[in-house]
Amino acid sequence: MKLSYLSIVIGLAVQSALAVPKQVKPRRTTSILINPDAQPDLPSPNVAASSADAGLNLDDIQGDVLIGMKNNKELFFFFGIKDAPTFKSKLASDIKPLVTSINQLLSVDTQPVTSVNIAFSKTGLDTLGVTDDLGESLFDAGQFADAAALGDLTSNWDPEFKGTSIHGLILLASDTVQNVDDELANVQSIFGDSITEIKRISGAARPGDQVGHEHFGFMDGISQPAIQGFTENVLPGQALVNPGEILLGTTGDSIARPDWAVGGSFLAFRKIQQMVPEFTKFVADRPLAVPELTEQENSDLFGARLIGRWKSGAPIDLAPLRDDPDLAADSTRNNNFTFDHPGVSGFALATNQTDCPFSAHIRKVRPRADLASEATGHHMLRAGIPFGPEVTDAERASNTSSTDADLERGLAFVTYQSSIQNGLHFVQQAWVNNANFIFGKATPPGVDPLIGRAANSALDTPRPVSGTNPLNSTEIFSLDIEFIINRGGEYFFSPPISAIDSQLAV
Ligand code: HEM
Ligand SMILES: *[C@@H]1O[C@H](CO)[C@@H](O)[C@H](O)[C@H]1NC(C)=O
Ligand SMILES: *[C@@H]1O[C@H](CO)[C@@H](O)[C@H](O)[C@H]1NC(C)=O
Ligand SMILES: *[C@@H]1O[C@H](CO)[C@@H](O)[C@H](O)[C@H]1NC(C)=O
Ligand SMILES: *[C@@H]1O[C@H](CO)[C@@H](O)[C@H](O)[C@H]1NC(C)=O
Repeated sequence: MKLSYLSIVIGLAVQSALAVPKQVKPRRTTSILINPDAQPDLPSPNVAASSADAGLNLDDIQGDVLIGMKNNKELFFFFGIKDAPTFKSKLASDIKPLVTSINQLLSVDTQPVTSVNIAFSKTGLDTLGVTDDLGESLFDAGQFADAAALGDLTSNWDPEFKGTSIHGLILLASDTVQNVDDELANVQSIFGDSITEIKRISGAARPGDQVGHEHFGFMDGISQPAIQGFTENVLPGQALVNPGEILLGTTGDSIARPDWAVGGSFLAFRKIQQMVPEFTKFVADRPLAVPELTEQENSDLFGARLIGRWKSGAPIDLAPLRDDPDLAADSTRNNNFTFDHPGVSGFALATNQTDCPFSAHIRKVRPRADLASEATGHHMLRAGIPFGPEVTDAERASNTSSTDADLERGLAFVTYQSSIQNGLHFVQQAWVNNANFIFGKATPPGVDPLIGRAANSALDTPRPVSGTNPLNSTEIFSLDIEFIINRGGEYFFSPPISAIDSQLAV
């Protein structure tokens, strides 16, 4: 049984048995987080003891860093600091007490009505007079300076992300939009005129049976690295990584960091627009020709082979021809694969992409057995959430995304890592956009069909993708349409909570 449901049941039972004493603050009875079956559960609250052994202080790490893709409603509020002295005094006195730790989020009983997290860009830290070197030059320069290396066309970037004017990001998360809006009003009244709003993006888990799925319809947040000292039950197929791969100054982080930054993490934010009707039509129009499948099934299989999972989340490496919803919903099985088919004698990893293309999104971003070791140092924790409305009838009928800004939709993409250089930047540049990666394959994989870019080129520049046809492993097709458009982003530092008053606000 899922932790959150169990907690709700216990919570309700306790509530009905005891009258809540007046002095106790109102407590939640429902979680602010989603917890689809396909996603790994969060650890139980008592994991704190073993975390301390691993050097992790779960009361000091901001909650968003370790909860993965479980936010329900989330507001990203990008701001500039106008009056640093006032900002600092409000930050220390009134905002720090609101900042939510990972420990608080692990139990419904301790969750706030709305979780508040805060992160700063380099220019934000500069504005506060914090000059210590955090050891990450990509953070220092900001994401706009990294855009070309990531393969972005900055002409597509939203103007607010161009340059380095964003000083900070406030992340507000709850189970209702009303709660989030109320907390934003509260935060804005605390900071008053010491900040200016630069941009806001409203994220929300998709409705109904699409909870946990991104806008193209695929279940997300299934495969996340397990963190030594935090993850309670390491699931089959999860990469078990040192906390230092995600959290600064913890075991496995070899870069010198200021003492106060220990337990912090770099937050890479990317606003990624998704062209949903176009993607849906593209997939529908390209059924494969597997004899035992219907035309519809052949189209669905083509779509699944672009991602490496079915829409349900079932991995095609384990369910190569048809979706398997039971497999998808079983988190002990839905990540238990390596692309190497250990039970099959003579399986040729360098040539065989019959079950999963080398270019499939999940394989380009985490090649598993394709690399000699899982210890690549390129893991990150994903914490993004869909933004924008569902596809409208008019868009569906015309197979075209509306140009109405209110109907823009996509992924408010967030990763946490201790090194942007090794995390987001590396994976996008050296793996996703590199048509020769995964190296050593008989047929060059091509780019990631979902998010791979031909660098510095027009959006529809044809780029090679191999392996989508299970009947012919050497076939390469030329992708000349973009399903996603990168609209910009920024690199932030999510400080440990203790540093907010001890360092940032002095
Ligand atoms: C709109 C853009 C994107 C969409 C729709 C998308 C969708 C997905 C989906 C459906 C999965 C499979 C679910 C899972 O295994 O958890 C996935 C996994 C993943 N994605 Fe993305 N993704 C997007 C952008 C990115 C970007 C920009 C990166 C990094 C450069 C990235 C990195 C990953 C990673 C690391 C995984 C887990 C792979 C694994 O551990 O097996 N994604 N994504
Ligand atoms: C995971 O896969 C391996 C074979 O690759 C199998 O032996 C093992 O039983 C699987 N684990 C689960 C929980 O299904
Ligand atoms: C890939 O391996 C599977 C299992 O060994 C086999 O059935 C299939 O024919 C192979 N595909 C190619 C192209 O060799
Ligand atoms: C939309 O795409 C589908 C699938 O290709 C097609 O059947 C339909 O005719 C298209 N509609 C329009 C208005 O082009
Ligand atoms: C497989 O694709 C390759 C490359 O496009 C092509 O040369 C070859 O003829 C195809 N094989 C079959 C059996 O269709």
